[in-house]
Amino acid sequence: MTNWTKIDQTVKRWIQEAGTNIRASFTSSLTIQAKSNPNDLVTNVDQETERFFIENIRSEFPEHRILGEEGQGDRVQSLDGVIWIIDPIDGTMNFVHQQRNFAVSIGIYENGIGQLGYIYDIVHDELYHARKGHGAWMNDTPLPKLEKAPVETAILGISATWLINNRHFNQEKLVQLAKDVRGTRSYGSAALELAYVASGRLDGYITMRNAPWDFAGGKMIVEEAGGIVSTIDGGEIDMLSVNPVFAAAPGLHQDILKKYLT
Ligand code: IPD
Ligand code: CA
Ligand code: CA
Repeated sequence: MTNWTKIDQTVKRWIQEAGTNIRASFTSSLTIQAKSNPNDLVTNVDQETERFFIENIRSEFPEHRILGEEGQGDRVQSLDGVIWIIDPIDGTMNFVHQQRNFAVSIGIYENGIGQLGYIYDIVHDELYHARKGHGAWMNDTPLPKLEKAPVETAILGISATWLINNRHFNQEKLVQLAKDVRGTRSYGSAALELAYVASGRLDGYITMRNAPWDFAGGKMIVEEAGGIVSTIDGGEIDMLSVNPVFAAAPGLHQDILKKYLT
């Protein structure tokens, strides 16, 4: 039997240590490289943070596998066993340009089922975390169960990218939704936006393209807070692929799906 209590305590310790190292990096100069396009950035701190987690996981839990954004983990092609899905810094562009609005994100899945989720906003020292069947917290404070929110008073996390002509979704439907909600916000970190849905700072979050490391931790935390996370047409998220992601409080999720997304 997997000892989730031990894993939970260990991850929290590592996350604090990673946070201390990332904070220390603020005063040194970064090595910045572009990946798939000139705006897709990676820094030495992303890579060092991923390596820090991988080395620790390999030594403490050698039978677990690791799917990391920066590719230093395993080639994971199935969800069998225990898999750590890690984004060492989600919101790298914010990290580089603003030194805020970024987070460490970790989801730990067993045979495809989320067991533990963590999103650490280092600058604000806010650790959102969840354990399957036990609930979700921000630091030591339990997150209350999300309640139904009407569209008219909802604050929706959505990037302007999806409100202009794009090849992934008919933006007209989303433009109407953006007009109907109380307000929209875009923070540039999928993990933080999911943490905000879980904690009620946002009522929903919509994106057309997120990778497993962007949503693995957040999906767990939103679900444990009573929210719903699906693809844009209400389907199940595939934990091994890029997905469109729609997370929201219950009720609001059904209303938006029915009226705007299908
Ligand atoms: C990105 C952020 C961003 C989302 C992108 C992600 P990264 O992650 O989460 O908000 O819109 O799709 O790739 O590259 O900063 O880890
Ligand atoms: Ca990311
Ligand atoms: Ca990242």
